Amino acid sequence: MSRTEFNFDEAIDRREVPALKPHRVVLGADGMGLFPAGVADMDFRVAPPIQDAMQKRLIHGVFSYETVPADLFPALINWFETRHGWRIEPDHILRAPNVLNSLAIAASLFTDEGDGIIVQPPVFFDFYDIIAENKRRMISNPLILKEGRYEMDFDGLERLATNPNARMLYLCNPHNPVGRVWTREELARIADICRRNGVLVVSDEIHADITFPGHSYTPFASLSEADARNVHYLYFPGKELQYRRLLLIFHDHRR
Ligand SMILES: Cc1ncc(COP(=O)(O)O)c(C=O)c1O
Repeated sequence: MSRTEFNFDEAIDRREVPALKPHRVVLGADGMGLFPAGVADMDFRVAPPIQDAMQKRLIHGVFSYETVPADLFPALINWFETRHGWRIEPDHILRAPNVLNSLAIAASLFTDEGDGIIVQPPVFFDFYDIIAENKRRMISNPLILKEGRYEMDFDGLERLATNPNARMLYLCNPHNPVGRVWTREELARIADICRRNGVLVVSDEIHADITFPGHSYTPFASLSEADARNVHYLYFPGKELQYRRLLLIFHDHRR
């Protein structure tokens, strides 16, 4: 399919299906005229080859349990290697229901009730709810706005990470909502601080594939071997494909 075949100007009424984004639970009862920027999902149709594949599957008509397609992991490994220069070991890949549940699972597996999880606001609001719902303590290290660009507060992170109650960092890379694609140097500084202080990094990289030209996304787990051992990497192609049944966790937690 060439790019010209896709009509990016077509406005599709999302209210025809019970879409969350334009719903009053997001916009408020009086806010239906607002632009719903609070939910990061797609207003365009998926690409025709994806629709065709889903149509074919639909016509089959039986929707019982399935095995993982043999070409899924090779496709994913190839995607990361060619797009992001990161070679993933097949046995480091785990499937999970979605990113938010995976953040909660990581917290319950690797921290205890009352333990602190560091977040860097402003950040995707569900991070706060997950921490509260799992009876963990939110430790806030706000980003700093410098001349119109958000930066990380590395001194703040160092200070907070030395608190033995801080056991985990929920990183957002690229960062929703401020849109920063963290550089390799910035990620290496986080990795260094967290590794020295025994803080496990859980990196939500759901927006990995959506960056403006000139901004190079670095998978956190593609840093050094030592840093990769201190990270759970969460990726979901749904933002690009809108095929919302596939989530993969890259897991290399051997502390
Ligand atoms: C940073 C971030 N993480 C997670 C999610 C939600 O992921 P999932 O639907 O896989 O739970 C979103 C959705 O907007 C998001 O922006």
